[in-house]
This record gives sequence, structure tokens and C-alpha cells, in this order.
Amino acid sequence: MITTTSYKEVYRPQYHFSPPSQWLNDPNGMVFYEGEYHLFYQYHPESNLWGPMHWGHAVSTDLVTWRHLPIALKPDHNGFIFSGSAVVDWKDSSGFFDGGSGLVAIFTHEDTNPETGGSRQRQSLAYSQDKGRTWTMYKGNPVLEDSRFIDFRDPKVFWDGPRQRWAMLLVAGDRVIFYSSPNLTDWTFCSEFGELEGSHAGVWECPDLFELPVDDNEEHSKWVLIVSIGDHPESPEGSRTQYFIGSFDGTQFVNDSSPDNLLWLDYGRDNYAGVTWSDVPAQDGRRLIIGWMTNWKYAKLTPTDVWRGAMTIPRVLELQATNEGIRLIQKPVNELKALREPLYELHNQQLQPGNNLLEEVRGDSLEIEAEIELQDAVEFGFKVRMSEKEGTVIGFDAEKETLFIDRSHSGLTDSIHEHFSCRHDAVLKPTNNRIKVHIYVDWSSVEVFANNGEVVMTDLIFPDPESKGLELYTRGGNVKVNSLYIYSLRTIW
Ligand code: FRU
Repeated sequence: MITTTSYKEVYRPQYHFSPPSQWLNDPNGMVFYEGEYHLFYQYHPESNLWGPMHWGHAVSTDLVTWRHLPIALKPDHNGFIFSGSAVVDWKDSSGFFDGGSGLVAIFTHEDTNPETGGSRQRQSLAYSQDKGRTWTMYKGNPVLEDSRFIDFRDPKVFWDGPRQRWAMLLVAGDRVIFYSSPNLTDWTFCSEFGELEGSHAGVWECPDLFELPVDDNEEHSKWVLIVSIGDHPESPEGSRTQYFIGSFDGTQFVNDSSPDNLLWLDYGRDNYAGVTWSDVPAQDGRRLIIGWMTNWKYAKLTPTDVWRGAMTIPRVLELQATNEGIRLIQKPVNELKALREPLYELHNQQLQPGNNLLEEVRGDSLEIEAEIELQDAVEFGFKVRMSEKEGTVIGFDAEKETLFIDRSHSGLTDSIHEHFSCRHDAVLKPTNNRIKVHIYVDWSSVEVFANNGEVVMTDLIFPDPESKGLELYTRGGNVKVNSLYIYSLRTIW
């Protein structure tokens, strides 16, 4: 077993969360309690490949720096510990806390069905009376099973204030099922969603449901249902995450859009199984999400050794009314600004084809914020993690009005997977003839937030560690750089 961790290994993210060693997948049980953000995660402590799942654990007071804690949940006689959520049981509805409050984790226990020999997935509870440091399995586990379903997992629980009870949603095959409970232990079926809605390109996983104001207007709110969809050999995109906007009455979710209107959380390839933090204090009010930064298509093949798997940066979700309808927007959490070291700045500068204003700037852990005015350019963009032999392009195609990432020459590609090398595009409309991009570059990833989070793309890249060059280019005509800020980001380890 590999035990030495330096956080300086090739491709080790410098400010994204990764486990000290071994395999990580989905973020689990994120909850804020007594000043700490908890992050649990699907973890295999014996290998850098997926296997018997545990819940790894870390805490943070700022969403930026993380303290690793011992494994929170280990497999027991009911099986492995698959994904799930955690809540603060403020009023001791469960009776686990002697009238006080504490943390309850609701997750899937996975084992072998003695009748079929196949997978059996049932929902269970564990609770912690000491701020998540130690956990007790509930004696009555499992608390919810349904033998009709093989894929029956990833419970997300939240407090349904208006009805003074708990709500749970989980996935069953390619549907979401809703339940309610007074005490977290007894669950009643409420409804099912999804048969004819959204994408069914893979098995549904890791759902989440929450209410958000539209355009910050507390008088007008909508419910957002997030559903990740697993990989399928026929989909080049692999695993990805869709969402629905609608209403929820405590029993049923109703989609506002037509069932075939597909909405994607992220237009890159590497943001999966994201769910949001529970119990973020009302004074803060943010809906915070983090995702697993890879794709089931090649998650087991990425070229790292000591550890495998990392999370996206934490992001804030908001709803915005647009001409096409209400859409989810995503922004990096403000706390990340604490890592900045100013590197380069530019204002009101014309850029012509063939010129690279960033020739002198280098870095492999960067934040770039720019507002670019389109003049007669056909395309402009940034190349990051660049050298003579490679580079990742984050560009805007002015004719098609699309934002894109092209990682086909980003470093290692084909040796990882035949679908790794790719370019993907998403529609992005300029505002007042301007495009805003906010880019995060790390040792093995790029995340792009365009036009204040209207379009987001998250991609893994595996460049040569020495590829640290940068370029800002324009093609077919000029652009004006209204503003450009480049920061080097300090490591969190
Ligand atoms: C999603 C997922 C979940 C499951 C977990 C197992 O990535 O497949 O549905 O609970 O991973 O590790």
C-alpha cells in the first residue's frame, strides 16, 4: 500500500480537495454544523481503484483548506457504504441525541442479494453525537428497502419546514422517488418523478432537491432537482449531470419545462455526482455544491498513482431568469480569493492576431478573470498549461456564439481513453458585445465560468508539469481586453 503523500505528486491538485492517498469518488453527506463544513466522500482505503466503499471524511471552516479526519463509515454486516447525505437533527426527531442536536447520515448499504446473487441496495442511518468525529450505525438498519429495484440508492434528505417533517429523494433505476418521515427512521412513499423527463442516457444517480430565489427575489422561488446520469458505452460524454426547474409541494416535484428540454449543470466532461451542503446557516444563505471532478468513462484510468480522484472547487448555485427560461448559474465561492497572489494585470488593451500579451506570464495554479470586447475577431481565447508541444484552449467562437474547451492537445489524452481527447462547445451570448471568463487552472484541471456563471465547463487535463505557458490570442480580427487579472493560487496543503 502506498503511504507517502507529499501533495507534490505529478498532477496532484494544489487547491482542489483530494484524499491523502487512494481512491475517491462522489462527495457525500456534506453538512455545515457548529462552524465546520463537513465533506465525506466515497473512498476505498486499500487501493487507487474503486472497491468496497467507505466514507472518507474532511472538515473545513472556510471551504478552501481541509483537514483530513479518520474514515467516518466502514462496511459492516449490511454491506458497503455507498453515497448519501447528512443532516443536522436539530430537534432530536430521531431520538439519537438525548434531546440535543447531532448529525445523522443517510446512505445506501450495498451487499449481495441472497436470492438473486446480484447487487442489493438499501438505505441506512448512522449518527454522530460528537460533531462527526465518531459514528454509530443505527440498530434498525436498513430503514428503507424495495426489492423491485436493483439500482436503488443515493438518498438525499432535507427538512421540509412547511410540513414539519423530513423529505428524502433517491434514485431507482432511471427515476427519482420521494419519501417523507417524521423521525428519519420511518419512511413513507410520496411520489415518483422522471419516467418521461430529461435524459435517460444512463442510470440515474445522486439526486438533490432545493429551493432557490429567482434573481435574488425572495418573493419568487423555484425548486431545482439535480440528477446525475451514469456513463453508457454509447455516449461519448460519459457521465454527467442534468437538472430540472419546477415546484415541490412536499409530496411531488413538477417540472416547469417540457419533458424533453435538457438542462446541463456543466458543459465540460468532469463534474459528476455533485450535491449541495445541508444546513448552511440562513444568514449565509448560499446553496453550495461540490462535484467529483472526473468521468466514469475513464475515472479508473487517469494517470495518478498515490491517490486517484479530486473534487471541483466549491461553487454557489443561483437561479437566473433568461429569455430561454429560468436557469441555474454557478459561481466559485468567494473564500477562494484568500489563495490569490497577484501575477499580472491589464486594462483597455487592443489585441491583434499574432500577438501574445502573456508571453512573459507562467503558472500552473492560476486564476484568470477577464472581460473581453469582441471587435472583428472570429475567435479569441486563452491557452493554458502551454508549451511548444501542448496546451489547453479555452475559447469563444464569435460566429457560432459558443464557448469551448479544446483539450485534444492538452497533454496525455489517447493513452487515458479514446474519448479523452475532445473539444466541447456550449452556447454563450455576448452581453453588450462582451464576454466574461473566469478560469481556474490547477495541476490537472481547468474550470471555466463564463458570463458570471451562465455557462460552466470543468475538464481534467494531464499536461507535462513543465507546461506552464499562457497565451491570449485572437483570430480573424481584433478584440479589446477591457480588463484582465491573473493570480497565482497558493497550495492548500
Ligand atoms: C455515483 C455512484 C453512486 C453510488 C456510488 C458508489 O458515482 O455510482 O450512484 O452510490 O457511486 O461508489
